Amino acid sequence: MNEPITILLVDDMKVLLLGSGGREHALAWKMAQSPKLEKLYVAPGNAGTAQIAENVPIAVTDFEAIADFAAAEGIHLVVVGPEDPLVGGLRDFLQNDSRLGGLMVVGPGKDGAILEGSKDFAKHFMQRHHIPTAGYLTVTADNIAEGRQFLANLKPPYVLKADGLAAGKGVLILNDLEEAQRELQEMLEGKFGKASSRVVIEEFLHGIEISVFALTDGKHYKILGSAKDYKRVGEGDTGLNTGGMGAVSPVPFADAEFNRKVEERIVRPTVEGLRADGIDYRGFLFFGLMNTDGEPAVIEYNVRMGDPETEVVMPRLRNDLLTLFEAVANGTLDEVQLEFDARYCTTVMLVAGGYPGSYEKGNAITGFERVKDCMVFHAGTKMQDGRVVTNGGRVLAVSAFGETLPDALQQSYANVAELKFKDMNYRRDIGRDLYE
Ligand code: AMP
Ligand code: GLY
Repeated sequence: MNEPITILLVDDMKVLLLGSGGREHALAWKMAQSPKLEKLYVAPGNAGTAQIAENVPIAVTDFEAIADFAAAEGIHLVVVGPEDPLVGGLRDFLQNDSRLGGLMVVGPGKDGAILEGSKDFAKHFMQRHHIPTAGYLTVTADNIAEGRQFLANLKPPYVLKADGLAAGKGVLILNDLEEAQRELQEMLEGKFGKASSRVVIEEFLHGIEISVFALTDGKHYKILGSAKDYKRVGEGDTGLNTGGMGAVSPVPFADAEFNRKVEERIVRPTVEGLRADGIDYRGFLFFGLMNTDGEPAVIEYNVRMGDPETEVVMPRLRNDLLTLFEAVANGTLDEVQLEFDARYCTTVMLVAGGYPGSYEKGNAITGFERVKDCMVFHAGTKMQDGRVVTNGGRVLAVSAFGETLPDALQQSYANVAELKFKDMNYRRDIGRDLYE
């Protein structure tokens, strides 16, 4: 394992944050509050990050341009928002660049990012380290008959997952056995390209989903909080899956007993398992969990923060984020004590009409000057002729605090009413299932 030889403590930090969504605006907003920050760059960023940092037109997957920029600007810390560059090995690439000695990176190397990059790897990992998860079988063209048999022995619904990254589309949940058998075949034949040359068949877990976030330095971890997101585009959890239409934190049903189980059975064994496997994981861990009658099991790992969950988790965190990132780089997270705002935080996503299908871009957004007592995080926005215009399906995340969950939601929705763009859509029922 790579232990740093010197402890890095920089007071005038130059930071490069990679990504362009609401998650990145929320991370940038949080880092911008740090007295340690000298300069924050966001690549490529959006109209929101441009107000608090300097956007640089570099794609998150252009490793050479990222390394050149970091070397030229004397960057101390690179924070990676999305999974793609991590799964592609950006951390390793930067650490092998002789110009970038001492560069801190928040985000795992390729050996850790595979927890998200391969569902088969993640399932093996959980099995090896006795972490609760659904029963499964991994199928390739070589054992398709075994796969068909495994499906036939399961009760519906049937869960089929492309092994690799498939832009959030690689999971199928089917009620009919014949359809599942057919889809298995199609996936192996390339329905999701190379990502589905291996397919993980899973038992279906019943219950209610919750996400838990942690930060680890490879030895120690801190739990940043829990959140629930709303993935379907339509009210009452109907319609197509999206990147997320809203989120709340903390999650009311995650009581002390449930959180204790999550930590003891899932978070700690994951961090210890990574270490035991010789993986020096430094970055965020996102546990997608199912709560089945109070018992947590892992649905998936992500190696980054969630979006829109970051827009409710970061506002509740009281600590200086750059101090936490330094502790991640130095392996000293155990010396840190996290502090949280006790209030609820909620966010409502404003999306372009048609999303997650096709939608317009370039529509002017108005009302920013009318919002109050909230945080408007930009997702798909950009500046055009001096105006903020839409530039993606998910456009703005309107986050607010409240002493109770309904109070926070009321504050989010009061501000949603001030913001407008052509064909704006949003869910009116974020969080409602948790208190009604
Ligand atoms: P994943 O990409 O693995 O998070 O799967 C996408 C979504 O499919 C999850 O958020 C769950 O809603 C659902 N899902 C995945 N695996 C299971 C499972 N084993 N049982 C029930 N639902 C699942
Ligand atoms: N909101 C779910 C995710 O970020 O994957």
